Amino acid sequence: MKQSPVVIIGTGVSGLMAAHLLADHLPVILVTKGEVKQSNSSLAQGGMAAAVGAHDHPHDHAQDTLQAGYHHNHLQNVYKLTEAAPHIAHQLRALDVPFEQSQGNYVLGHEGAHGKRRILHAYKDQTGKAIIDCLWHHVQGRVQILSHEMVTSIEVEKKAVIGVVTTKRAITSRCVILASGGAGQLYTRTSNVSFATGDGFMLAYRAGVVLKDLEFVQFHPTLLKSEQGALVSEAVRGEGAYLVNRYGQRLLANYPNGELESRDVVARVLFDAIKDGEEVFLDARHLPQFQERFPYIAKCCIAAGIDPTKAYIPVEPGAHFLCGGVETDDNGLSAVGGLYAVGEVACTGVHGANRLASNSLLEGLVFAERAANHILQHDQYKICERMGLNHTAPPLSHALPTRTLLQQHMTEFVGIKRTRQGLLYMREWLQSFINTSAAPRVDAQTWWEDVHLFELACLMTEAALQRTESRGNHIRTDFPEAVPEWRTVDVCFQHTKEPF
Ligand code: SIN
Repeated sequence: MKQSPVVIIGTGVSGLMAAHLLADHLPVILVTKGEVKQSNSSLAQGGMAAAVGAHDHPHDHAQDTLQAGYHHNHLQNVYKLTEAAPHIAHQLRALDVPFEQSQGNYVLGHEGAHGKRRILHAYKDQTGKAIIDCLWHHVQGRVQILSHEMVTSIEVEKKAVIGVVTTKRAITSRCVILASGGAGQLYTRTSNVSFATGDGFMLAYRAGVVLKDLEFVQFHPTLLKSEQGALVSEAVRGEGAYLVNRYGQRLLANYPNGELESRDVVARVLFDAIKDGEEVFLDARHLPQFQERFPYIAKCCIAAGIDPTKAYIPVEPGAHFLCGGVETDDNGLSAVGGLYAVGEVACTGVHGANRLASNSLLEGLVFAERAANHILQHDQYKICERMGLNHTAPPLSHALPTRTLLQQHMTEFVGIKRTRQGLLYMREWLQSFINTSAAPRVDAQTWWEDVHLFELACLMTEAALQRTESRGNHIRTDFPEAVPEWRTVDVCFQHTKEPF
């Protein structure tokens, strides 16, 4: 059995940032299911929002965040986020993240629902990769890495963490930071990596924390319509690309902010057009120097047989980001002692009902720093003793749907638009597996991933049923209006024996 004062699960920007800040003070173990540099963070293209422009202010950034989030956000945490953003930008610069600059000033991109240009970017259109490369450069050799190893349980005693169990071993620890990312694999089309299977949400749930806001799934409007399905960054629209149908008619011509409406609005316009039988495209042919500004996106287009400087780019919406997750305080601490959650797996409330573009890397970094500082102020986490972990696997004896079938059902019934009828059908469909005895297990990791996807689908279906209004990413066609009384209501789940 291993032991360590701190175990970090996940190696996206939040996991690596926390590791970087803690490594000089405490031994840290980093656990990842894949390779260190594989994460949703490393796929993030557009950038990181920060009010660093001459005429910008964290207050303006906060106001845009609140408006995009339909005011379901946690107000104080939004201000903590936007006020910390310039400091995080400078800190990353000090670590040599090559944010694009000109004459000593950041070159700022534009994205949907931002009132100003405030998107820092690096490696042109691979900002997440640039930050990951840099953080990893600083973390490597200072922490212990367990790769290709999946955490299957967070062990808790007397409402405090005592360790984790992985597919290979048990590790005792008083402090666990969940930085395990999202759950895009619940849907047929997603911008997420193949192992974004919602593990962290369900590990935390079984450990006794509260999950909330699970009904707010953000769909990115423009995934490249191809086998590989790469993202085509909102920054492309920020530079002036149009969304058009096959006749070149602009789909958002009648919207005040055109292609830079907030992401939920744009995704719905495209969803409706596709439902009506249209094909939808990005027209970026008129952008000067597309290849120079967006080399990675250009490469993905070329690989799919499309020259974006000459042809329309075929696009479609896909699952991108789960706004809800593990309820935490402003230091990333959950209701279980020593269990922190940062990044997409967490719900600090900053995103509300719809995340503002380029606030996700920022959130991961800001709250990883806050969590690390909080941990360093609390001596109890430094104690590292050997403890007996009495781990028992959850008594799952029912069958699971195939991943493809689950994705199809989630896309259809818990997707961009929902109805009571569809959600009730989905609930019944999920329940039919609970009443069926188990099929043989595949390998341990795939089995655990399928369990997590299934259980999270159950909770998300329930959350979507409970919120009888439309707000941000959650659209109920049977309740089309936002209801003021729902604005501050959180749909919450805490572990019970059965998922329903
Ligand atoms: C994008 O580049 O369009 C994605 C950025 C984000 O998810 O905020």
